[in-house]
Amino acid sequence: MTFKPAEWPRKLRSQHWYGGNSRDTIYHRGWLKNQGYPHDLFDGRPVIGILNTWSDLTPCNGHLRELAEKVKAGIWEAGGFPVEVPVFSASENTFRPTAMMYRNLAAMAVEEAMRGQPIDGAVLMVGCDKTTPSLLMAAASTDIPSIVVTGGPMLNGWFRGERIGSGTHLWKFSEAVKAGEMTQDEFLEAEQAMSRSSGTCNTMGTASTMASMAEALGMALSGNAAIPAVDSRRRVMAQMTGRRIVQMVKDDLKPSDIMTKEAFENAIRCNGAIGGSTNAVVHLLAMAGRTGVELTLDDWDRCGRDVATIVNLMPSGKYLMEEFFYAGGLPVVLKHLGEAGLLHKNALTVSGDTIWDEVKDAKNWNEDVILPVEKALTQQGGIAVLKGNLAPLGAVLKPSAASPHLMQHRGRAVVFEDIDDYKARINDDALDIDETCIMVMKNCGPKGYPGMAEVGNMGLPPKVLKKGITDMVRISDARMSGTAYGTVVLHTSPEAARGGPLAIVRSGDWIELDVPNRRLHLDLSDEEIAARLAEWKNPVEPPASGYARMFHEHVEGADTGADFDFLKGCRGSEVGRDSH
Ligand code: FES
Repeated sequence: MTFKPAEWPRKLRSQHWYGGNSRDTIYHRGWLKNQGYPHDLFDGRPVIGILNTWSDLTPCNGHLRELAEKVKAGIWEAGGFPVEVPVFSASENTFRPTAMMYRNLAAMAVEEAMRGQPIDGAVLMVGCDKTTPSLLMAAASTDIPSIVVTGGPMLNGWFRGERIGSGTHLWKFSEAVKAGEMTQDEFLEAEQAMSRSSGTCNTMGTASTMASMAEALGMALSGNAAIPAVDSRRRVMAQMTGRRIVQMVKDDLKPSDIMTKEAFENAIRCNGAIGGSTNAVVHLLAMAGRTGVELTLDDWDRCGRDVATIVNLMPSGKYLMEEFFYAGGLPVVLKHLGEAGLLHKNALTVSGDTIWDEVKDAKNWNEDVILPVEKALTQQGGIAVLKGNLAPLGAVLKPSAASPHLMQHRGRAVVFEDIDDYKARINDDALDIDETCIMVMKNCGPKGYPGMAEVGNMGLPPKVLKKGITDMVRISDARMSGTAYGTVVLHTSPEAARGGPLAIVRSGDWIELDVPNRRLHLDLSDEEIAARLAEWKNPVEPPASGYARMFHEHVEGADTGADFDFLKGCRGSEVGRDSH
């Protein structure tokens, strides 16, 4: 893509607040001077908002206040004026009922923080799962020049001589305790070993995936995704990001120049190559919806289908983000995609150069971590998009995290009406279930939970685990943590709480999963499905009031990204009326 930088100098939007000597200007400028800023800082230089998702209750981003100082240093060096702005921080490990319920709220709040304040450019300081997409959604809707810098992953977890990964081993160890293979005391001992340093989850979970998506989209400097949070090079990256945003503002290099259809296709293919999280599906669809780029679930299947998963990281593989960084990180993966003809090489990045310029000289320093394609974890990585009478609008499954022997499977349904029903019955040895059954859970989608929680990787019944079985087919309208694994069908759409066919599945029905043929079929006649739907009553009551009510009324389905209907599209950055 050819990008033509704007003329510089020119009047920036911050000058609507700080330019001239009117009463209103003196009001805006004078009050800010109470922080001791000299008058010449208001001379029309780029004002850069450092939108910081730091919070004590978002531990994955707990170090971002300190990292922001390096961003500020870079902005000062490049002749900009940095202002740090705390923004809504939706922590994955804190928010209830699920952080996903607050992604759109955060995106809305950040969008207004960008548009309503004197910000010419933005550094998006993110890390934990939802913080990355929410800020990118906001940037896409305002189209103000923006650049991502993530906090970086935690160092490797180690326990009794073995790597242990965030989330992935939480699920493994909890199943081991249920199966009687690990004691509760050992589990507690492992707890601290999982989180050895500041940073985001060290697996290729959703945070690492979304950091990789930001880089593959071209919205972060090359190499950003994998640098560990505590590595000095993370601080260098922050400073370079601060320097770069100032020039982006001068050039008027905007998200709409970067987040093109080609960029989204690059990101989808990259997700297949890294064995990335299924959560990237809803987040990229939502981000595309903000830019006006037409992106659908079918694009996920089309672009990702023939991408080999070459990054040998948990949950699909063996290593963790620290080793991915030492092996060369994401530039190596993008270079591989380029050489395989799977990258739009001319896609523009925040650097002002193309993505190919950024990655063409990358080197792989460890071929056990970033595998040669002939040794890939799976030749068909990507995200499989399944359709059929059980998922007319689609459902997703991550082949690299699934069991090959279950990719074509017909089984008897064991149905849980919601998460509470699942929790109440799953440990009961009288439950009529074995490893050939298909576990089905309803009412965990965007409207149903509410918020579409990461509960789709339902733990197996203890009586099955005790046989040494570690995977069964599971189907729901929920999401799954990016750190989780298994033959798990997710995001089934329409969701049960919207009257999708999932709502009428009963225990004892038979279901066919056929991943190679992308099929998810309920073995019932059309007439029987229609008759059951006709007598179906929605068990999910709309919340009475508040944000939950707004969420319920406006959230769209997972198949289009679960954004709010009224937030789609780019609204630009036009300055509104002054208040004085
Ligand atoms: Fe925050 Fe994993 S829980 S990054």
